[in-house]
Amino acid sequence: MPEQTLTIALSKGRIYKDTLPLLAQAGIEPRDDPETSRKLILDTNRDDVKLVVIRATDVPTYVQYGAADVGVSGKDVLMEHGGEGLYEPLDLNIARCRLMVAGRPEAASLSGRLRVATKFVNITRRYYAEQGKQVEIIKLYGSMELAPLVGLADAIVDLVDTGNTLKANGLVPLEHIADISSRLVVNKAAMKMKSAWVKRLLKDLEAAVQAQA
Ligand code: ADP
Ligand code: PRP
Ligand code: MG
Repeated sequence: MPEQTLTIALSKGRIYKDTLPLLAQAGIEPRDDPETSRKLILDTNRDDVKLVVIRATDVPTYVQYGAADVGVSGKDVLMEHGGEGLYEPLDLNIARCRLMVAGRPEAASLSGRLRVATKFVNITRRYYAEQGKQVEIIKLYGSMELAPLVGLADAIVDLVDTGNTLKANGLVPLEHIADISSRLVVNKAAMKMKSAWVKRLLKDLEAAVQAQA
């Protein structure tokens, strides 16, 4: 991205929706709505600031490679990605939820090698390795709650907020892995090369987060 612009990576849906008021407080307002526009690079009220709207799991990659200078990413996505090449200077306190092991109530008492379905394979591997437990991990891309219902897995590792999705499918939370919220991530080179810009944004967003608390 050109030296004279600051590019911010966001994902559609809840991160975009929850980040918008924080950006507005920092004086940044998009000119297009990603829910209705097919444009992937959104202009803002500021000539020097662009937004790119991408898949949530792609945000760390864009920022890592400097295709975006900064981004907003769930801690779950950052834990899964590994965070290489990224600074993570600010907890935006939005899109809060928990990363949990869940399953049918009977799953709590299962012994032997569990089958665990998840889109968070790295987190799951690490979590069970730390406990010295052998598990078979099945990679899914969504609707993890279905897996225990159809015998694909004994348990899942997924995000839980209200617990409604678990409840609607007869599942229960079993183990808490981590508290999740979205973080501002900054490309390491941009932190140096565009330091005045990034520091200003950081300060404004910090104030916006405080004001929302
Ligand atoms: P995806 O299409 O990848 O599922 P989402 O917009 O649903 O994207 O999720 C983006 C981020 O929001 C996740 O990485 C997570 O940090 C957070 N999140 C996901 N589900 C919930 C939820 N039900 N409640 C609150 N935060 C959530
Ligand atoms: C997320 C997550 C759970 C659900 C948990 O799904 O993957 O399925 O929210 O929230 P709850 O505890 O409040 O029910 P999301 O709404 O993002 O749907 P999608 O990722 O499958 O599109
Ligand atoms: Mg989702």
